[in-house]
Amino acid sequence: MKKVLVIYYSQSGQLLDIAKSITQDLERDNEIALDFYKIKLKKEFDFPWNRKDFFNVFPETFLQKTIALNDVDNPILQKKYDLIIFAYQVWYLTPSLPITSFLKSNIAKKVMNNTPIITVIGCRNMWIMAQEKVKKMLSNYGANLVGNIALVDKNINHISVITIVQWLFTGVKKRYLGIFPKPGVSNQDIKESKRFGKPILNALKKGDFSSLQSKLIEKKAVKIKPFLITVDSRANVLFKKWANLIIKKGAKNNSKRQFWIKIFNFYLIIAIWIISPIVFVVYLLTYPFLFKRIKKDVKYYSSVKIKKA
Ligand SMILES: Cc1cc2nc3c(=O)[nH]c(=O)nc-3n(C[C@H](O)[C@H](O)[C@H](O)COP(=O)(O)O)c2cc1C
Repeated sequence: MKKVLVIYYSQSGQLLDIAKSITQDLERDNEIALDFYKIKLKKEFDFPWNRKDFFNVFPETFLQKTIALNDVDNPILQKKYDLIIFAYQVWYLTPSLPITSFLKSNIAKKVMNNTPIITVIGCRNMWIMAQEKVKKMLSNYGANLVGNIALVDKNINHISVITIVQWLFTGVKKRYLGIFPKPGVSNQDIKESKRFGKPILNALKKGDFSSLQSKLIEKKAVKIKPFLITVDSRANVLFKKWANLIIKKGAKNNSKRQFWIKIFNFYLIIAIWIISPIVFVVYLLTYPFLFKRIKKDVKYYSSVKIKKA
């Protein structure tokens, strides 16, 4: 009997739907015992979000601070598993605050140490640098990342910005104004993610995960858009400055913090709607000269390898 644990966090339930679809074949197999564990917080975030809370989580999320967890003495987390499927979402180009808090906890170290891990991401579309941060945290305690599946909103970037904001601020995953596409990962993509179950099951039964990620890639488990690598890494540099600035300015005075968060909110709007289209044009012009490097980057970010510092 092989033991598999799915650890996940989700506000809307989207990540649970994805994890359930991916593990359908494992669930049906008599030789697999499948457990689910939802990360719980001492104080949960409201869903839907209000504007203030949504931007207020930025500095601590980005700087990978931790918040208090609940239920970490759950017996599930004391068992030793043959495989862990770790399903997470991205907040501000970083694993969400609940996810970082879990990954940095002693219980995560204990349950994940020396265990094969498959990460499953469900986000808007900017997950590449967040996954690098997860890789680093996992490698700190000898967890063995063997696979990654990233499900995103496949609509064009600016459409997905509009629709996700509607979703997160209303809590309803529906077509905004009746004309926009539905936000988030599409129902069809969630349903079709069942196809990843077979290669996972085969690797698990053989006890050999060495070629799992290439099998998952053949099944289109990750699709890297090279332009998003550029945006994600540049935005990370700027976000770091913003996060530190907000923490510093607001250290003793919450109204000062709120003021700087509002400025950050304004900056984000400019960055998304004005700066990013300009960067895109520059990117297109330089694309032919950077072709070799882009190819190398796409290969690396599709893999489960970790860059040496
Ligand atoms: C505060 C916040 C920040 C987010 N930032 C990003 C981001 O940087 N990149 C991205 O692709 N998605 C981002 N998202 C979308 C989430 O990754 C995720 O798709 C959405 O919140 C639904 O997740 P759920 O399963 O918790 O409901 C963000 C969501 C929230 C709430």
